[in-house]
Amino acid sequence: MDQLKDLLKHEIKDLYSAEEQLIEALPKMIEKANNKKLKQALQEHFTITEMQKERLDEVLELLEGKDGETKGFLSGLFKDSKDGEKCKAMEGLITEGEKLMKEDMTPEVSDAAIIAAAQKIEHYEISSYGTARAYAQELNLDDVEALLKETLDEEYQADDVLTEIAEGRVNAKANNGSSSSNGRSNGRSLKTSSPGRSNSSKRGKTSSNGRAKTTTGNKSKTSSSKTKRNTHSKSSSR
Ligand SMILES: [Fe+2]
Repeated sequence: MDQLKDLLKHEIKDLYSAEEQLIEALPKMIEKANNKKLKQALQEHFTITEMQKERLDEVLELLEGKDGETKGFLSGLFKDSKDGEKCKAMEGLITEGEKLMKEDMTPEVSDAAIIAAAQKIEHYEISSYGTARAYAQELNLDDVEALLKETLDEEYQADDVLTEIAEGRVNAKANNGSSSSNGRSNGRSLKTSSPGRSNSSKRGKTSSNGRAKTTTGNKSKTSSSKTKRNTHSKSSSR
């Protein structure tokens, strides 16, 4: 059980690094965004991300105490700072997104690329927070679990908003704008660059909540959270 707590601390520190990197990257994405709704959604998520980082501070304090020091079998991964190692996954996702944003694209296609990059980031966070929350459930760390659930819900909501923007406006405009030239291939790639559509429809099966079920084996908690999540999704996305 101690080892699972170590693993949870590792996940939290990885997320801490991920949120820190996102706080640095989001302003560039906001600046690059053309669509008003997209700009606004990213701006709002920037504010939320700063709060999420503070929430992780609270989680770490609960796990380690105020002057906590990470011990245990994973301590090598944490080095001796609160921040631990840089999250390479988030670094990669951000680098890929930034690389794309430097390409010469129409404003509409550029927005579609920003949405795709942002959703890849959201999906990574959803997976990580879902896993961390499942560990906290297993360890009966109710306070930690509640904090992680709060953030997980916010990440789902951000993903839903991006899907709505992509499906409602950005992808269609990007496709129309390019159909006179080489619209066919662009149209195809844009369809796949709206991952939120398949994500929303398969959420029950593929989400981290689903993974939480296998990780914790706690069916009652997981199924009730899934019900709550679905309700939340409906109200937040429409
Ligand atoms: Fe986040």
